[in-house]
Amino acid sequence: MFENAFGVISRIAGPFITAKYMSKARMFELVKIGKERIIGEIIRVDGDLAVIQAYEDTEGIKLGERVFLTGESLSVECGPGLIGQIFDGIQRPLTVIADKTGPFIKRGEEAPPLDRKKKWYFKPKVKKGSKIIGGDIIGTVDETSLIEHKVLAPPGLKGTLKSICTEGDYSVTDLIAEVQTAEGTEKLFLMHKWPVRQPRPYNRMLHPSTPLLTGQRVIDALFPVAKGGIAVISGGFGTGKTVLLQTLAVWSTADVVVYVGCGERGNEMADVLERFQKLKAPHSDQPLMDRTIIISNVSNMPIIAREASIYTGITLAEYYRDMGYDVAVMLDSTSRWAEALREISGRLEEMPGEEGYPAYLASRLAEFYARAGHVQTLGGEERYGSITVLASISPPGGDFSEPVTINTLRLAKVFWALDPGLAYRRHYPAINWFMSYSEYLPVLEPWFRNVAEDWQILCGDARNLLKEEEELREIVALIGAEILGDKQRCVFEAAKMLKECFLVQNAFHPVDAYCPIYKTHKILRLLLDFYKKAKIAVDSGVPLIRILSLPVREKLGRLKIAPMENFDEVYSNISKEMNEQIEKLISEIRQGSTP
Ligand SMILES: Nc1ncnc2c1ncn2[C@@H]1O[C@H](COP(=O)(O)OP(=O)(O)O)[C@@H](O)[C@H]1O
Ligand SMILES: [Mg+2]
Repeated sequence: MFENAFGVISRIAGPFITAKYMSKARMFELVKIGKERIIGEIIRVDGDLAVIQAYEDTEGIKLGERVFLTGESLSVECGPGLIGQIFDGIQRPLTVIADKTGPFIKRGEEAPPLDRKKKWYFKPKVKKGSKIIGGDIIGTVDETSLIEHKVLAPPGLKGTLKSICTEGDYSVTDLIAEVQTAEGTEKLFLMHKWPVRQPRPYNRMLHPSTPLLTGQRVIDALFPVAKGGIAVISGGFGTGKTVLLQTLAVWSTADVVVYVGCGERGNEMADVLERFQKLKAPHSDQPLMDRTIIISNVSNMPIIAREASIYTGITLAEYYRDMGYDVAVMLDSTSRWAEALREISGRLEEMPGEEGYPAYLASRLAEFYARAGHVQTLGGEERYGSITVLASISPPGGDFSEPVTINTLRLAKVFWALDPGLAYRRHYPAINWFMSYSEYLPVLEPWFRNVAEDWQILCGDARNLLKEEEELREIVALIGAEILGDKQRCVFEAAKMLKECFLVQNAFHPVDAYCPIYKTHKILRLLLDFYKKAKIAVDSGVPLIRILSLPVREKLGRLKIAPMENFDEVYSNISKEMNEQIEKLISEIRQGSTP
């Protein structure tokens, strides 16, 4: 980075530094502060004065020290070597120390995000003389076992290929190609830089039409999210937001996952890393980290640095989207980001909006979430990619009417409301089925109908059962349980089975953690089938208690932990036993009642 001008520190207030002689500074320009060259960003320019937010601890920095302008905005390096890495909020690679005290980096340390020494085997895909526009694939590199890295012409480029290197080993800074443009010659490398606050352009935005499958039954069946969509997880402390996001990072059907941890608990990110490093990617024998990028704020970075990590994360996601991948971005938790905005705004003495958040909270969130979506990418060749954002919010006291939840829900089409009552009963994922919703159900219907004709009917029946149970519950609360007949009790029992055998899913169980869509459908079908048959039996006069003590019920309960290898066999056995056992009860009653 070129240090082209400097100012002098006139005030230090925690992570906020004011410097004078800064008339040349631009908003959001990156600066280096003091002897240690700590990184900061300009957040206000006022004549000769500039306010800077430091991305590192400012302890020991003195008045009168210099602030250097860099002429650059906060940018990320886009190129091979991102996948499998763990970065801090401003894309510094973190070395993870073994004793689990968490990711660690020295103050003012400058390590390039992408390894300058590593050689990548590059295969060119274009020929000298061909026309090149931004987004075109210049060539490929096998980045990991799962990701073929498409080396892209940077957005905005237009010209004719003057030269291209031969197939072989290159580092990210070796010259790969030269493009003759109207202005001159543009050099291309395996990497290019992109400013994080500027969305990467695409050709056009499309409507989402396929689900991002999560392997979580309650989500895939009742509240699915589409690839390119936004889903919000909101819930108080300990309701399972982090576990759910991590589970989705592990199991969802994205090509690339960017996991951003604005951790609420110190060592959480070290745990994530340890867990992810041991796991395999879904449907493959390859390491999970071969499709994952982790961004983590380290403990010695000020709270405000959380803002940068959100932007760094989404920019890297856009870069892989532009290659034609489906990317999922997990943000845990966006409340910490909103708090950073509140703190910055407070320091700048701006007029506060609701609950002290800046008045521009809503527009800042909207700008950010607009970067999610299903798009046709830049480039001459037709290519599609998507970014699905899955964001957690931790509302104080679990109150969903607070500004961050309200403003985010305006932008998201999926809401997974976590319920402390369910979490307390260890019903995980604690997704409340009355408060949660997915507005993608209609657009995803054709996709799910392809999985199974009766998909929509079954999901509708499941919802109705839960609703019916709730209505009965209200009646019972008013009049008491004594008035219930076997018919109504049957609703309670069926709803209980639906919860225990289907909605509850243990994220730490080797089989249950992930439920393929095929299995989700089959379990739901069998449970609802049991309910239907039980109703017929009750109508025929079979006492409910006898249905509840059928041996097949226990087997139904264990269906979710049946491994896929022999699932079909287990399924048809249970189905057969169920029919036989219930029919036997009915025929016994009929025989008993015949004179
Ligand atoms: N799907 C799940 N399966 C099993 N246990 C879970 C699940 N979700 C949450 N838990 C339990 O709840 C605890 C708190 O969850 P966590 O995700 O850390 O909450 P939050 O991030 O909302 O504060 C976890 O440590 C775990 O014991
Ligand atoms: Mg958490």
